[in-house]
Amino acid sequence: MTEYVKISDAEGVRTIAFSRADKKNALTREMYDAAANALNGAQNDPEIRVVLFAGEGDSFTAGNDLNDFLEHPPFSEDGPSPVERFMTALMEAKKPVVAAVGGLSVGIGVTMLLHCDLVYASRMATFSTPFVKLALAPEFASSITMPAVMGRAKAAEMLLLGEKLSAEEAERAGLVARVFADEELIEQATARCRKLAKLAPGAVADAKTLLRAPAEDLAARMQREGKLFNERLGSDEFKEAAGAFFERREPDFSKFG
Ligand code: COA
Repeated sequence: MTEYVKISDAEGVRTIAFSRADKKNALTREMYDAAANALNGAQNDPEIRVVLFAGEGDSFTAGNDLNDFLEHPPFSEDGPSPVERFMTALMEAKKPVVAAVGGLSVGIGVTMLLHCDLVYASRMATFSTPFVKLALAPEFASSITMPAVMGRAKAAEMLLLGEKLSAEEAERAGLVARVFADEELIEQATARCRKLAKLAPGAVADAKTLLRAPAEDLAARMQREGKLFNERLGSDEFKEAAGAFFERREPDFSKFG
């Protein structure tokens, strides 16, 4: 347990907030552990449909705590470190993960966004990955995910030069889905999470899996989607969606999970 990560559940959304504002929410081993546990716990909790990451104060996170880095290198032969547990939880999450970036986001603060399903930002948000500037290396597959999201040219500016993107640039680059006024970010991101939480959970999970699946032959993907589509047509979730349409009411997916 750490006081530096705040976890709250409401209306199907688990919010995991980095809460170490005086250190720009730099992430310690305890913070990774707490976030990994909260994220893993959400996968087995039928009440939770969506996870939202946020940061308190003027930062999302300044990345790995640099003191911690020196004392405990994140990659070791002795089993997964807290940061590896956290990133594995994020990569393996079946439920959608959303991030609300309301300030600076550095290093793993950006690497983690590349594994989130939706990223929203406030106008004051900035994004940088100064690994090479710090004589370090890209981490957690960002040398694949970043060019895949924003193209190699922009990814090279970020990963080689460590250049900082503004919120608008990050939106243009495809890292951020939408930018909001600073004071509206959390409300807008939460509203979208609640909307996601009301959708059919099996359909959301299937769509997430497809969106994140590695590139494959188009014909193979069509086959895979077709099979899934047929399965979905036979699902109770679809019966509820179709029933609601014909009965002219809102569908209720709360009993699925
Ligand atoms: N690890 C540990 N402490 C950090 C930190 C980090 N990654 N980032 C910020 N802090 C601490 C600072 O040491 C400072 O602590 P202090 O008040 O006890 O001196 C406090 O947070 C505020 O940071 P400060 O540098 O004074 O704020 P700033 O607004 O001038 O700059 C940053 C903010 C994020 C640009 C700057 O702190 C920074 O470059 N941090 C390092 C980011 C980084 O390299 N992350 C790792 C990438 S791999």
